[in-house]
Amino acid sequence: LLPVYDKPMIYYPLSILMLANINDILIITTAEDSDRFIKLLGDGSQLGVSIQYEIQDKPTGIPDAFVVGEKFIGNERVCLILGDNIFHADTFINTHILPNINTSVPTVFGYYVKDPERYGVVEFDKSQKVLSIEEKPTNPKSDYAITGLYIFNNDVSKIAKNLKASKRGETEIVDIMNHYLMQDNLKVELLGRGVTWLDTGTHHSLHEASTYIEVLESRQGLKIASLEEIAFEKGFISKDQLLSQAKTLKGTNY
Ligand code: G1P
Repeated sequence: LLPVYDKPMIYYPLSILMLANINDILIITTAEDSDRFIKLLGDGSQLGVSIQYEIQDKPTGIPDAFVVGEKFIGNERVCLILGDNIFHADTFINTHILPNINTSVPTVFGYYVKDPERYGVVEFDKSQKVLSIEEKPTNPKSDYAITGLYIFNNDVSKIAKNLKASKRGETEIVDIMNHYLMQDNLKVELLGRGVTWLDTGTHHSLHEASTYIEVLESRQGLKIASLEEIAFEKGFISKDQLLSQAKTLKGTNY
């Protein structure tokens, strides 16, 4: 629950889901952290969404989310967003998320970065066709990192169950992408430089993200990732519900 400027980090990925009209949400945490998430977000009804929780016993890899969440996923497609990822751009939801939710093609997003070796990296041929995706390669084959936002099909739990652990002892999310790629059924959509993607997985990057949010929020006097505002704008909660929550926060900047 580390804060990014004035909100818990979890608000940022949740804001993306809610803006994309996803109102059925599963949060996967560790046994130690789960109570704090539940205390913060409850069952989601104050935001007009449903939030459930599952515990991941051991950090066996990101794909395990689809095994832990198999029942939750049921017969639907699924969108996974990593808890330390921030996306910000006016056009992000309408241009990149909604069109890809409404197809049946597994979709991930590539983003130009200066340090691709920290991430999953996508390799293209000359015609921009995706050739492979590698996890944290020593010699990245491009400067495009794969972000922590994945839109997958219902078969993803089955695929995740059959993965073998990599050399670092975890199953890898890139192996799910490569599975789809082998079936010629993966879209890697590139995000332009007008989109901000931040990963807050290190102290330095968390600090950078806080600065980014602080600068914009102070300049505009508007909030990034205010879940209560989004819930109201989306019609998930009424004006009275919004106002009664605002009352409890009176006296704080937020
Ligand atoms: C994970 C994924 C990696 C992806 C990154 C995005 O890495 O394994 O493929 O590029 O998230 O944030 P991690 O942050 O766990 O090191």
